[in-house]
Amino acid sequence: MKIFSLFLLIFIFVNIVKSNTTPKSLFKNEEIIDSSEDVKVILIMTFKRMNDFSKCLDSIISANHSNEYHLVLTQSVSMNDYNEYNQLEDILNEKINQNQNQKLFKSITHIETESSSKQPYGNAYFAFKNLVHGMKFTVEKLFPNLQSLIIFEEDVEISKDVFEFFEASKSIMKKDKSIKFATTAFFLHTTHPQYNWLLDKPLKRKSIRNENSLSLLVPNQLNKVTFNGEIEFKVLSWLLDRSIINQLILDFNIIENWVIENKFEDKIENKPNTNKPELLKNNCDCWNHDRYLELRFKGLKFIGSQSPRCNHIPVGGFGLSSVLDDYGFPVNQDYIKSNQFVMGDEINGEKSVWGIVKEFLPKFECPSRINCYNNQTNQYCGTLKVSTCLNIWGPPPLQCVPCSGRKTSTLDPQCNQEFSSCCKENCNAHNPFFISIPSLH
Ligand SMILES: *[C@@H]1O[C@H](CO)[C@@H](O)[C@H](O)[C@H]1NC(C)=O
Ligand SMILES: *[C@@H]1O[C@H](CO)[C@@H](O)[C@H](O)[C@H]1NC(C)=O
Repeated sequence: MKIFSLFLLIFIFVNIVKSNTTPKSLFKNEEIIDSSEDVKVILIMTFKRMNDFSKCLDSIISANHSNEYHLVLTQSVSMNDYNEYNQLEDILNEKINQNQNQKLFKSITHIETESSSKQPYGNAYFAFKNLVHGMKFTVEKLFPNLQSLIIFEEDVEISKDVFEFFEASKSIMKKDKSIKFATTAFFLHTTHPQYNWLLDKPLKRKSIRNENSLSLLVPNQLNKVTFNGEIEFKVLSWLLDRSIINQLILDFNIIENWVIENKFEDKIENKPNTNKPELLKNNCDCWNHDRYLELRFKGLKFIGSQSPRCNHIPVGGFGLSSVLDDYGFPVNQDYIKSNQFVMGDEINGEKSVWGIVKEFLPKFECPSRINCYNNQTNQYCGTLKVSTCLNIWGPPPLQCVPCSGRKTSTLDPQCNQEFSSCCKENCNAHNPFFISIPSLH
């Protein structure tokens, strides 16, 4: 009797502790859901941006064919704070209730990844951990024979035809085994000697106009691109082959063991020449999974959507497609069916014309600014922060134009708004930089 009551006490105690720390998830699956090879699965990496996540989910739901997919959500839970974890389930329930006469996904699974990051947006190591943990759970527990996986970040919105793009990519990948990834957005960069992934974003300015700039975007075109460390493969909404998933799981195991052995969880410094596992040092000398995979899988190829099919959900008016941001590309609006895509140029990152420009411009970078002048008084009114790229396709003298390829004059309204007292609705935006390269013309 005594033993029994002690037992009972312990049992109750354990239960109380458990229910305090681990909330009961309504969407937790522990069993195999589908063991077929052609099962379609979306994995979303989430953390704390729940307003963005709600919009992200809306855009996925309104994309055609999303109901053919299983949904897995992997969420970092930092320091046992389940606030956003519970919010996410409320959002899921809300969407399910709003759409009672249609099944949104084939199944929904929500899992947590332990994190000890104290930063509001986490850090690159814990994001990497959350991604790999999500992949591992997806392939080891839920869909053991899955052949490819689509991954979204919690703060993206996607085009209505995004799943048509992924289907088209998958069928190309079936025939060409050198292609292991697909992405809905990618950017080409210069081989500028100062260009370095490890520098902060403001310094990663592109000196050469992106060949995929606005006027050149073709919604039904795909490019086969080689990973070479000079191309920005966006991991906002992408697909990867099962063989890569397996490799990433193995790699991350080594990385995680290093972090645990060195008690490094609170000491991650995402800078070059700081302590890191060899595997990271040798590939990007960073903790970001996107930069890491570009170098880890150097030489392999991906299918890139020529016209972006994803965008960061704008925060305070800024997203990937805002005219004031780095790229300024709008998300593709033309619905293309999976059998309507065509292959465009193959890109290996080393365009001959880039080499010529590089010789002429060893130290050159386009500034991240466009100047505003009042066209009545010729007064300089101020500067807008916009990434500019050298338009090597334009007539001489070459100009630094917004990297999106939008005309500089599309920024007139921004000038008038930002510097209203000086502009008085009469401002024109000007490129502050010109250069002449005789051999290009
Ligand atoms: C969505 O997919 C269905 C089924 O393939 C197709 O009939 C329909 O035309 C698609 N929607 C659009 C906008 O093309
Ligand atoms: C001055 O700029 C405004 C836009 O801010 C434009 O509408 C107007 O045509 C410009 N005037 C001249 C003389 O260029």
